[in-house]
Amino acid sequence: MHGLLRERLLSRRDHRLERGKPPQPLLFDDMMEPTNEGARPGSADRAPGGDPPGPQEGQAPTGAPLLELRNVDKNFGPVQALQGINLIIPEGQVTALAGDNGAGKSVLIKTVSGIWSPDGGAVFWRGQRVHIRTPKDAAALGITTVYQDLALCDNLDIVQNMFLGHEDLHLGMLNEIEMELTARRTLESLAMTTARQIRQPVASLSGGQRQSVAVAKAVMANSKLVILDEPTAALGVTQTAMVLSLVKQLTSQGVTVLMISHNLNDIFQVADHLAIVHLGHLVASGPASNFNRQTAVDYMTTGRSNRETAGSPALAAS
Ligand SMILES: Nc1ncnc2c1ncn2[C@@H]1O[C@H](COP(=O)(O)OP(=O)(O)OP(=O)(O)O)[C@@H](O)[C@H]1O
Ligand SMILES: [Mg+2]
Repeated sequence: MHGLLRERLLSRRDHRLERGKPPQPLLFDDMMEPTNEGARPGSADRAPGGDPPGPQEGQAPTGAPLLELRNVDKNFGPVQALQGINLIIPEGQVTALAGDNGAGKSVLIKTVSGIWSPDGGAVFWRGQRVHIRTPKDAAALGITTVYQDLALCDNLDIVQNMFLGHEDLHLGMLNEIEMELTARRTLESLAMTTARQIRQPVASLSGGQRQSVAVAKAVMANSKLVILDEPTAALGVTQTAMVLSLVKQLTSQGVTVLMISHNLNDIFQVADHLAIVHLGHLVASGPASNFNRQTAVDYMTTGRSNRETAGSPALAAS
């Protein structure tokens, strides 16, 4: 494409993105003062010698974590799916959420994503209490969840999928060139260059490439927190490596990641922080370096561990 035209298209897009910044969501509990309680010493999630997030651009001056759950409960009739969950998601880091089948991982992320509302407790976003009642509320905060089935449309190409639901219109027409440039730029910024053609249907992509398109879509939506539900579950070795490097790439762009995973290889490869749930309780949480494979398996399978760990053994429980 002609260089000048390309530059003009890109600069128009940047202006559009500036103008189109989502308004401050009306989710905050206006009656509450901003608080830095999220960073309080002795918080359930804070291990001694832990890893408080450093101040980041756009972060609340309080140094509060990006997301915090305090004492969150979720019941389905007699089933107590989440009980008194105290969880901190530090900004700009990868937090892995692990646990056995039925532990409550999916219910937890659905509660954060606005699919379920908690029955008790409170959720804080950068130190301010928020009420995430719908997926739209979550999106307004900058939370994007990539579910396992990916919600991509097989018959649409990569660009169409990335813009699905928020197509770029110009004078009532699809702005195909601009959408393609934006999609291409996003994929390149994530070092995602393995797809041969940006206009190929998603059905023709490998599992890893599909996962990457879903993640790139989340990045394009200006997400602050990307939640990935078992992103590598169905992938082979090469594709898993590709997705994990993409996860790291996200944090280098300032995006915070919460990744559900059963796979200890994946967890120890990319996670800065590890939280483990067992039968609806958060049984351990702290820097990933405070865990080893054995302690992680202990917590996942029995909810406790008596073994020594390499780092600080103080792994907080809810
Ligand atoms: N919609 C629902 N109605 C009733 N019970 C539910 C519902 N969703 C989840 N549960 C229950 O909540 C508990 C936690 O389920 P959840 O799906 O969060 O487990 P998980 O940790 O994601 O497990 P897996 O690794 O198998 O995906 C389970 O006992 C499950 O049966
Ligand atoms: Mg699940």
